[in-house]
Amino acid sequence: MTEENRDVVVFPDLDAVSEEAARRFVAIANDAVAQSNRCTVALAGGSTPERLYRLLASERYRDTVPWASLYLFFGDERCVPPDDRESNYRMAREAMLDHVPVLPEQVFRMEGERDPQSAAMTYDATLGDAFSLTPGRVPHFDLILLGMGPDGHTASLFPETEGLEVTERLATANYVPKFDSWRLTLTYPVLDAAMHVLFLVGGAEKADAVQHVIEGPFDPSAYPAQGVRTPEGMVTFLLDAAAAEKLTSVH
Ligand code: 6PG
Repeated sequence: MTEENRDVVVFPDLDAVSEEAARRFVAIANDAVAQSNRCTVALAGGSTPERLYRLLASERYRDTVPWASLYLFFGDERCVPPDDRESNYRMAREAMLDHVPVLPEQVFRMEGERDPQSAAMTYDATLGDAFSLTPGRVPHFDLILLGMGPDGHTASLFPETEGLEVTERLATANYVPKFDSWRLTLTYPVLDAAMHVLFLVGGAEKADAVQHVIEGPFDPSAYPAQGVRTPEGMVTFLLDAAAAEKLTSVH
């Protein structure tokens, strides 16, 4: 990934990261809608983005988002029912979707309750339909939100897992040995085709991974977040000070 399409910005804490992410979300969404009458976003899972989702649904931001023209997808999902406490969809629904004016047909969840391979094939087709893709084409999301784990994983692309090698599908089921469980995830071709990728990363436990991903040798098998490179777009890391602690090149 060349420097001109990657940016790293450090904030004092996760609240400040989330505020910046909200500002960028609003700007990207309104620009996309102005250009093409719609905005496509893949939401991140885990716990970090919850603050952002609550902010976007808050009095301060809700009316600045063009919700009627937004189409919301997911970057990954745990293989659990949508009302499970582990579900990324449940987190996004409780933090945002239930509190903003989006219609069910604007939200495309990954069906974690189904057989993983079938659910991945269904999501592949869902993306094909939603983006009117001809065979072999890849969707260009306006925005993909991502997190990063302490091991450098992103979405559900975990180190040394088979999902890292999947390039002929848009979504895949990925077995994660460390959890002895399956996950559903977008694949690198989709992540790499985004116009904007925003990583939201906070906490000292991620400082090592952040340093490797941003400053270390290119080794996406070990640090999958490093594999997200958008030749046509921009990858921005929004970090809190704790997660950025071990960076040497960012002041
Ligand atoms: C998931 C996420 C995953 C997440 C990281 C960071 O399903 O867990 O998609 O990639 O972004 O694990 O998780 P936290 O934000 O909880 O630290």
